[in-house]
Amino acid sequence: MTYRERNVTISSSETATAKALALPDELILMLLNEESGYFHQVPGWHLNCAVAGAALAELSLQARIDTDMDQLILLDRSPTGDPVLDFALHQIGAEADTRNAQYWVERLAPHAEMMIDLTLDRLTNTGILNYHDGNFWTLSSAARHGAYADAEDENTAVQFIKTRIGKSIFGGAIPSPRDVIIIGLASTCDVLRFIFEIDDEAEERIQLLRQMDLIGQAIANAVEHNLAGPLLRQAALTKPIPRVSLSRLLFNRHVWSGNLPALLADLKERYGSVYHIKPPIGEGEMFVLAGAKTNRWVHRYGRMYLHSRGYFRELEAEYHAAGLLPALDGADHFRLRKILRYSYSRAYLEENLDRLYGHAKEHIAGWNQGDTVKLVQMCHRYSNAQLSPLFVNIDCQDIVDDIIAYKKRALNTKVGKILPKFLLFTPAMKRKAKSVDEVVDRIQRSHTSGQRAGCPRDHADELLTLHNSDPVFLPEVNLKFALSAPVLASMYVGEELSFILHTLMTQPDLYRRVQQEADAVFGNGEPRWDLLDSDQTDVTARVFKECLRLYPTILGSIRTVMNSCVVEDHELPIGARVLVATTASHYMDDVFPSPHTFDIDRYLPARGEHRSPGYAPFGLGTHSCLGSRLVELQLLANVLLLAHCFTFELKKPNRKLRINPFPSMSPVKWIKVTIKERRHELPG
Ligand code: HEM
Repeated sequence: MTYRERNVTISSSETATAKALALPDELILMLLNEESGYFHQVPGWHLNCAVAGAALAELSLQARIDTDMDQLILLDRSPTGDPVLDFALHQIGAEADTRNAQYWVERLAPHAEMMIDLTLDRLTNTGILNYHDGNFWTLSSAARHGAYADAEDENTAVQFIKTRIGKSIFGGAIPSPRDVIIIGLASTCDVLRFIFEIDDEAEERIQLLRQMDLIGQAIANAVEHNLAGPLLRQAALTKPIPRVSLSRLLFNRHVWSGNLPALLADLKERYGSVYHIKPPIGEGEMFVLAGAKTNRWVHRYGRMYLHSRGYFRELEAEYHAAGLLPALDGADHFRLRKILRYSYSRAYLEENLDRLYGHAKEHIAGWNQGDTVKLVQMCHRYSNAQLSPLFVNIDCQDIVDDIIAYKKRALNTKVGKILPKFLLFTPAMKRKAKSVDEVVDRIQRSHTSGQRAGCPRDHADELLTLHNSDPVFLPEVNLKFALSAPVLASMYVGEELSFILHTLMTQPDLYRRVQQEADAVFGNGEPRWDLLDSDQTDVTARVFKECLRLYPTILGSIRTVMNSCVVEDHELPIGARVLVATTASHYMDDVFPSPHTFDIDRYLPARGEHRSPGYAPFGLGTHSCLGSRLVELQLLANVLLLAHCFTFELKKPNRKLRINPFPSMSPVKWIKVTIKERRHELPG
């Protein structure tokens, strides 16, 4: 099969059975680091040149262009069907003069990011790579088990490429022109030593192989030339980072309502998307990244420049822990996420919806018409009544208020640092801290092998098994935090639920529409779970999305700069504390027109305003919420369930919503609601 035929095979059928890969695909697969779920780190410009080189080389192998040391000639401009190659072909075809390979590497390299995106999409669509939330990629099991390898002893697509290359470097095998090019490009990117043990002899062989192919050599030379000559690199001219004056910070209208995303969006309007704040409370200065563009940057590149351990260090120390999930980076972080993924997944909840329903039903049995309760406390307890049994198989209703109070204080003193540290050690807090020990104790008692025999595995099972099998990776000192984390996470769910109920109580028309949908799900004997996420619960789903936009419980992430970087023309200094205000863009006109208006039609397919990095209630990048899809389903089910059973009303309906933004955004705790009507009993 010729190269042309090979390529037609993949481009014409984007199917999981596609076998042939173009050089940009092979280069990306070669760079994949399965341990970290990302790619071997290659300096941006090196990678850009290598990707451009790979596309040119593939075109040359397909006889679309001809190239030697002096010129690159277009032979056939008809599309290949591969968007990366066609982009390069189009660029070359549009140029009147004949240029050389080096010129084209330079011209295409600035587009490499888009070419990489297209390549990743293609590898994902053809079933070779799996994409995971958080911007991680791994080989699919089809690729892993050889569907893409046509040699007997290679077991993965990546391994296949690496094995081929290894044979050429170490085994003396005569490489194909394709392999010579890949060796040249990988060597240019300086990643071969991460993949193989390169000694002097291997290095000599690599250099020799690189000389074998004129075409590849011309491109590799062009790549190398560009690496050496910084002329085309992005100019390092950066702008100073503006400082926000204290008065601008304090006298912003949103400070008083507690709406920090809206405040940060206002500041972005005035100061641009990177600015510096020094709040009067808490621990000193921070750089803020706000807006869809900085969100995109964090999502794509954050892992290379920002680390997470810094902001969590003091909280870890409080637990005598080291290496907790939110504080991990790189391969360890990816490993832990992979292990915990299922127990926090939507699929896990789907399998346990009836259990969730049972706990909800039991909890609301005692709610009566005419009762008046505090909104946030009611929602905290309600969420906890479902999530603690689901994740860690315990009931902790008797101590949930203490756990939440302690965890909030710990976050405010040790992470957000908006309160002095001694406030974590008041006698009352010391008492509440014991509730966390009690939770861990209960979990351990309910997770002996006798207790768990025959039960489906839950989150605590995953953690305890991991601890037993690898106590270095997950030591006992980490268990206290890790085991109690889902109980804390139920706090966020309770807070979002409070916002949603508050919204419904203040918008009667919407409330009625949600109740109609709720009655369809719960009004016919058995709950109709099949209606969740269907057209018949569409209004509720959009109310939920809009509440997450306007009232995101977690407004952003705190990170520390570990490698100097330029974001939107501003250089962030190494060691600086950065607030990635992922949800500030929720209040920006260019992302969400009339951002302060509650409008569920934003999410209709025709508008789809949330389909951009500007919508990020669950965070962005590698640490994005592991429970997001589960939460979406759980909250949808619960809003409907509560809407079916009750009509709530605010005790003081005319009062404007006030938010307590620390440590997570929540309606203020004194808001009270009355159960105006107990509409229906739950079936089943
Ligand atoms: C409305 C409820 C929730 C919201 C808005 C939310 C949002 C977020 C956000 C913004 C982050 C990123 C934090 C950062 O970058 O530092 C995050 C992380 C995380 N969330 Fe959620 N979350 C919610 C509920 C949950 C639940 C119920 C669970 C599971 C029990 C969960 C599990 C996690 C985990 C494990 C992480 C850390 C991921 C990592 O560090 O790799 N979340 N969440």
